[in-house]
Amino acid sequence: MVDKKRILIPGGAGYIGSHVVLCCLLTRRYKVTVIENYSNSFGTALERVEKIALDALPADAPQADRDACKIDVIQGDMRDRATFKKAFQKYSGADAIYAIILTAALKSVGESSSKPIEYYEVNTSGLIGMLAEMKEAGCGRLIYSSSATVYGTPKTIPIPESSPMQAESVYGRTKQIAELIIKDVCDGHPDFFRSISLRYFNPAGAHPSGLIGEDPRGKPGNLLPLLAQMAVGKYREPGLKVFGNDYPTPDGTCVRDYIHIMDLAGGHVNALDAVDDDSKFHDVTTPGKFKAYNLGKGKGLSVLNMIEAMRKVSGYEYPYEIVGRRLGDVPDLTADPSLAEKELGFKAKYSLDDMSRDTWNWQSKNPKGYDTE
Ligand SMILES: NC(=O)c1ccc[n+]([C@@H]2O[C@H](COP(=O)([O-])OP(=O)(O)OC[C@H]3O[C@@H](n4cnc5c(N)ncnc54)[C@H](O)[C@@H]3O)[C@@H](O)[C@H]2O)c1
Repeated sequence: MVDKKRILIPGGAGYIGSHVVLCCLLTRRYKVTVIENYSNSFGTALERVEKIALDALPADAPQADRDACKIDVIQGDMRDRATFKKAFQKYSGADAIYAIILTAALKSVGESSSKPIEYYEVNTSGLIGMLAEMKEAGCGRLIYSSSATVYGTPKTIPIPESSPMQAESVYGRTKQIAELIIKDVCDGHPDFFRSISLRYFNPAGAHPSGLIGEDPRGKPGNLLPLLAQMAVGKYREPGLKVFGNDYPTPDGTCVRDYIHIMDLAGGHVNALDAVDDDSKFHDVTTPGKFKAYNLGKGKGLSVLNMIEAMRKVSGYEYPYEIVGRRLGDVPDLTADPSLAEKELGFKAKYSLDDMSRDTWNWQSKNPKGYDTE
C-alpha cells in the first residue's frame, strides 16, 4: 500500500478549507493537518468533515484509512512563523508535509479598504513567513487560493487567465501581490518551489449531507449565505439591497460565475496531481514552475437569478430593493475555465439547482450555523 501524503491546510476550518480538507480525505491518498486561529470558523466544521469522510469509507476499509480521517489541528496564527515551524517539526520521514494548500486569508472586499494593514499582514506578510518556513523545512509544493478579483474590471468575458491582473480593491491587491510573490519565489528557486494558484470565481453551496457549509461570523459578505440566512430568519434587517439594475447584463443586475463548493474543492485535488508534473509548466516563460488557473463554471448568473433560485428552494419571498450601483462592483465576472479543464482535468459538474438546494439544505438543518448553543 502506498503511504498517504500529508497535506498542510492553513485555514482548513473555513468555508472553502473545510470542503478542501474533505475532498483530500475522500481520495484516501492524503492525510491532513490544519492550521487555524478560528477567526472566521468553528472547530465543529472539522469534526463533521471527519464524520463525512469516515462514513464514506467502505465497511471493509483498512484501519489506515480510518486513522487518516482524523484531522490533526495546530491552533495558531499564520502571521506567526513559529506556527509553521511547529507544523514542519511535528512530522518527518514518510509523514513529512508533502504540500501546502493555503486557504487562510482575510477575504472581505468591503472590509479590506478600512483594514489594509490587517489584510496585508495576513494575506501577504503571513504568506512570506510561510514561504520562508517551507524553504527551511524542504517543502516546496504550494496550492494557493487566489481570486477572480485579481482581474479587476476585465476587458474580455469570459475571462482567460491571460487577462491582466489589475485588482481594484485592497483585498484583490493582496491576492494579486501574493501571486507575484509566489511566482518570484518559484523563479528564484526553480529546482525547489512549484506552485499552482487557483483563481476562484464565486463558490456557493455546501456538501450535500448538510453537515458542513458556509457560516461566516457576522453579516455574510457573499450573496448566497445572506439569502440563506434571510430565509431561515437568522438575518433579516436591513432588507436585501440589489446594487444597480442598469448594468449591461441580461436583467441589468451584476453577473457572477457561481461554482458549487464541491466542484471547487475537488479542483485542489486536481492541482495536487498537476503540481508535480513538469509537463504542466511547459509553456511558462520564466524559470520557475508557477501557473494560475481559473476555477469557475463558465456560466454567468445574475443577482436576480440567485434570488429566484433561493426563493424556489426555501419558499421565502425576498423583500428586496433596487438601489444605486455599489462602488467597485463590476458588471460581469464570468470565467473561461477551459485551461483548467484541458490541463488539470477540472470540470464543474454541479448546476445552479444543486447549489441552491445544497445551500438551503445546509442552512435549514443548521439555522444558527455551527454555533448550536
Ligand atoms: N469565499 C469566496 O467567495 C472566495 C472567493 C475567492 C477567493 N477566496 C479565497 O479562498 C480562501 C478561503 O476563503 P473562505 O471563503 O473559505 O474564507 P473563510 O473565512 O471561511 O476561511 C478562511 C479561514 O482562515 C482562517 N484564518 C484567517 N486568518 C488566519 C490567520 N491569521 N491564521 C490562521 N488562520 C486564519 C479563518 O479562521 C478561516 O477559517 C481565502 O484565501 C479567500 O481569499 C474566497
